[in-house]
Amino acid sequence: MEILHTVAELRQRLGQCEKPLALVPTMGALHDGHLSLMREARRRCSTVVVSVFVNPTQFGPHEDLERYPRDLEGDARLCAGVGVDLLFAPMVEEVYPPGVGETWVQVEGLTEGLCGRYRPGHFRGVCTVVSRLFLMAQPQLAFFGEKDYQQLAVLRKMTRDLCFPIEIIGVPTVREADGLALSSRNLMLSPAAREQALVLVQSLREGQRLFREGARGHAALLEAMRAVLERAPLAQVQYLELVDPDSLLPCGSTLPERVQALLAVFVGGVRLIDNAALHAPT
Ligand code: PAF
Repeated sequence: MEILHTVAELRQRLGQCEKPLALVPTMGALHDGHLSLMREARRRCSTVVVSVFVNPTQFGPHEDLERYPRDLEGDARLCAGVGVDLLFAPMVEEVYPPGVGETWVQVEGLTEGLCGRYRPGHFRGVCTVVSRLFLMAQPQLAFFGEKDYQQLAVLRKMTRDLCFPIEIIGVPTVREADGLALSSRNLMLSPAAREQALVLVQSLREGQRLFREGARGHAALLEAMRAVLERAPLAQVQYLELVDPDSLLPCGSTLPERVQALLAVFVGGVRLIDNAALHAPT
């Protein structure tokens, strides 16, 4: 596996690679969730490129950009282990040369609620960097995790709306044995917070259980799910919502047959997100 740092090197190498080409964009601190994206990419494509870039434009001024875990050597070992061909790890100036900071890609509508409401500018940063990575690598397929459900929906829409000739593949969330969704941010949890972080998946499973048993009252279901989150003294709920799986618009007072539950919770100061289809148990 080769590690490349500049767009010029990447372009030059890609000229010699077989298609279809897969791109797996990441911010590093790779875990089994990322590896499942790479394995799926490996299974479907002749060439697999993984990008590792902690994108500053998707972090707000008081977010965890500085604290975000970084370990390029470890990441490279993991990528090589699953048969990645090229690891693209550019510096900030390579992705954002002076002057490009005035050109942005913004998807409206889908980005207004959920994480978008609490992280202004976040999806603009994600869409801008992913567009730039798409144009740099020119893949035929790109792989993203379903754990970032809103991000996946936004990137699908961006790809469609801007006519990128790229197929977006969503890959199911990978969980620890106890159910916690894998996330690079799990590394920042104290032992006590790690234990209490389980309330996220427990709350989603409680929602699924009630939904399966026929509960369709929106407010009562939210209340039952919130009660599970409140069992953890270190947890502070940012949002817990039941939405339409496609439009991401909030459901009405009686729930329809397809409902996606999404939540964002600070556990011991670390922001975690998770989601599940209530109609399709995790
Ligand atoms: O999901 C992520 O890790 C990031 O948001 C992404 C898609 C790599 C863009 O920086």
